[in-house]
Amino acid sequence: MADYNWNERHIITFPEGNLALSTEDLHVYYGENEAIKGIDMQFEKNKITALIGPSGCGKSTFLRSLNRMNDTIDIAKVTGKIMYEGIDVNAQNINVYEMRKHIGMVFQRPNPFAKSIYKNITFAYERAGIKDKKVLDEIVETSLKQAALWDQVKDDLHKSAFTLSGGQQQRLCIARAIAVKPDILLMDEPASALDPVATMQLEETMFELKKNYTIIIVTHNMQQAARASDYTAFFYLGDLIEYDTTNHIFQNAKLKSTSDYVSGHFG
Ligand SMILES: Nc1ncnc2c1ncn2[C@@H]1O[C@H](COP(=O)(O)OP(=O)(O)OP(=O)(O)O)[C@@H](O)[C@H]1O
Ligand SMILES: [Mg+2]
Repeated sequence: MADYNWNERHIITFPEGNLALSTEDLHVYYGENEAIKGIDMQFEKNKITALIGPSGCGKSTFLRSLNRMNDTIDIAKVTGKIMYEGIDVNAQNINVYEMRKHIGMVFQRPNPFAKSIYKNITFAYERAGIKDKKVLDEIVETSLKQAALWDQVKDDLHKSAFTLSGGQQQRLCIARAIAVKPDILLMDEPASALDPVATMQLEETMFELKKNYTIIIVTHNMQQAARASDYTAFFYLGDLIEYDTTNHIFQNAKLKSTSDYVSGHFG
C-alpha cells in the first residue's frame, strides 16, 4: 500500500439549492480514538449516495452521527457541523426525537418491534396521540406500498411482525422509517442479512424511494453500490478520500487507491 498518497482528495460538491445535508469539519472520537477525522461532505437531494471502504474505516460511525445515533454511545464525541435546512443538527439544543422524523434510519439487521405489522408503522403516530383510524390506515397503506410490502401483507396487518421473512422485516423497517415522512433515509448495510432475491427487491424499492427521499447507504457490496447509487464515496481510516458520481468511481476513479479498492486489488 506504500505507493498511495493519502493526502490526495477528490471530493464533489453541489449547488446550495440541491443540498439535502452537509457536514463541515466533522470529527468523531471514541475516547482517544479519532474515528472520523474532519469530514466535509455534501449530499444531493433525491439521490442515492453509497459510502464504501474497508472494515473499520468509519462508515457506520459517520452515518450514525448524521442523525445523532452516536449520542447513545457514552464515550463517543462528535464535533463539527451537520447542516440540514439551515439548522445544525449537531448543536446542543436540538430536539433529537423531532429531528429523527426528518432524518430517519434503517439498521443492518431488521429490528421490528414485538408488535403487529400495523402497530410497527403507526407507533410514532400513536405516541404523538393520533388515534383516528382512517388517518392511521392511510399511513399504513402508503408506507407499506412505498416499501413494496403492501401486496404481501395487506391481509395480515394484525399479525406479529416476527411472522415475516427477513427481507420482509427489513422492508417493514423501511416502511416504519418512512411512515413519519422523513426527507433523508440513512441505511447501514440494509441488505447484509438478506438473500440475493430480497436484496434485488430492496434495491428496486430504493430506486422508487429516491423520488421522495434522499438516501445515504453504507454497503460492502460493490455491485450493489454500482447498481443502486448515483454517487459513491470512498472512506479510508476515518477520512473521505474520493467522492464522485458512481460512474466515475467505478469506471475512472481519479485516485489509484479508489480504483484498487473498487476492483478488489486494495492492500
Ligand atoms: N461503539 C464503539 N465504541 C468504541 N469504538 C468504536 C465503536 N464503534 C466503532 N468504533 C471504532 O471506530 C472505528 C470505525 O468503526 P466503524 O464501525 O464506524 O467502521 P465501519 O467502516 O462501519 O466498519 P464495518 O465495515 O466493519 O462495519 C473503528 O476503529 C472501531 O473500532
Ligand atoms: Mg459498519
